Amino acid sequence: MNRPTPAAESPVDLDEIPFQGIVEAALAGVYVVHDERFRYVNGTFAAMFGYAIAEMDGMHMRDLVTLDSGDDVMEKYRQRISGETPSIRYTTKCRHKDGHTVYLEIDGARVLFRGQPALSGMAIDITERVARQQELLRSREQLHQLAQHINTVREEQRADFARDVHDVLGGMLTSIKMDVTRIQRRAVNSDLHEILTITDDLLSLTQETIDAVRRIADEARPRSLDSLGLFAALHEMLVAFGERSGMAVSFHLDGSEPPLSSHCSTQCYRIVQEALTNVVRHADARQVRVHVRGRADGFELDMEDDGRGIAADTAKRAGLGLIGMKERAREVGGSLEVAPARTGGTLISLRVPVRPPGARP
Ligand SMILES: Nc1ncnc2c1ncn2[C@@H]1O[C@H](COP(=O)(O)OP(=O)(O)O)[C@@H](O)[C@H]1O
Ligand SMILES: [Mg+2]
Repeated sequence: MNRPTPAAESPVDLDEIPFQGIVEAALAGVYVVHDERFRYVNGTFAAMFGYAIAEMDGMHMRDLVTLDSGDDVMEKYRQRISGETPSIRYTTKCRHKDGHTVYLEIDGARVLFRGQPALSGMAIDITERVARQQELLRSREQLHQLAQHINTVREEQRADFARDVHDVLGGMLTSIKMDVTRIQRRAVNSDLHEILTITDDLLSLTQETIDAVRRIADEARPRSLDSLGLFAALHEMLVAFGERSGMAVSFHLDGSEPPLSSHCSTQCYRIVQEALTNVVRHADARQVRVHVRGRADGFELDMEDDGRGIAADTAKRAGLGLIGMKERAREVGGSLEVAPARTGGTLISLRVPVRPPGARP
């Protein structure tokens, strides 16, 4: 911080400068404290606390600060009076006459008052700035919670949906199929060839429907996640993706999968799913490579495509898809980076820590 030029170096005759008027009209609060009590305050300083200047004369420092910041303020006062720290700039929580809290930024230094060490300082009211910062932090936290909540609700809905489609619809279709088979068995011995033809069609249609139901249910909540684990499920998804998109895919695994909660593996699965959707939508790539490194204390996953690449500022600014991916990673205690790949495409790097079994929380 730049300190003002010492008076001795000033090119102006200081006796000609109306310091008293300047101090009294200053926009900053100015005060002198001696023996822990206020000996001088200007109008701005008094107004910050809702007092008249005369009311503050002789007032103790502790009467102006909140209970929790009292000791800190007194300690800083002591340091400056003793000469240990000649000048300190800090923010403190003070108490307004009407009881509300005001935040001041204080810059005070040791001076002589009636031949004894005293403290003179300046104060700026930063209450509004602090309130804005707190509001910003609060709304950012709310945003995180909201995003988490939306992810959880969506996952629950998907699981419900998957169960309904698979168990209820799938079950009903299987019954239809059995009924048709029964009809066919009876029709074989009679002369009902037409029935046979119709039921043949019906049978293949029901089989197609059963397959479709399975596929839809799997998309909503891949059963392979629960039965095979995350890494195998990702491998399966990648292979299916390659078949559907015609892109060359590779999956490379080092190490093995650490124990992951169902929530964690679902979040990671969705991250890769969204990343693959982005490859189809934006990359114009021919190849996708996934590299997973698993350890007892977590895993890392890199996914790289050889497409047109992502601009560094797009990756930083992030659309809702990327924000959702990052939020999912954050929710499981991990992190996600999206960046231009060295080879020209796009690289996403997912890091997920896991507490090894037996480790202390
Ligand atoms: N694999 C990728 N290759 C090239 N650009 C990408 C890739 N992934 C994302 N992007 C860019 O990042 C932007 C933000 O992605 P995202 O947040 O998922 O939103 P959306 O997919 O809805 O556009 C995309 O619009 C695209 O420009
Ligand atoms: Mg997207």
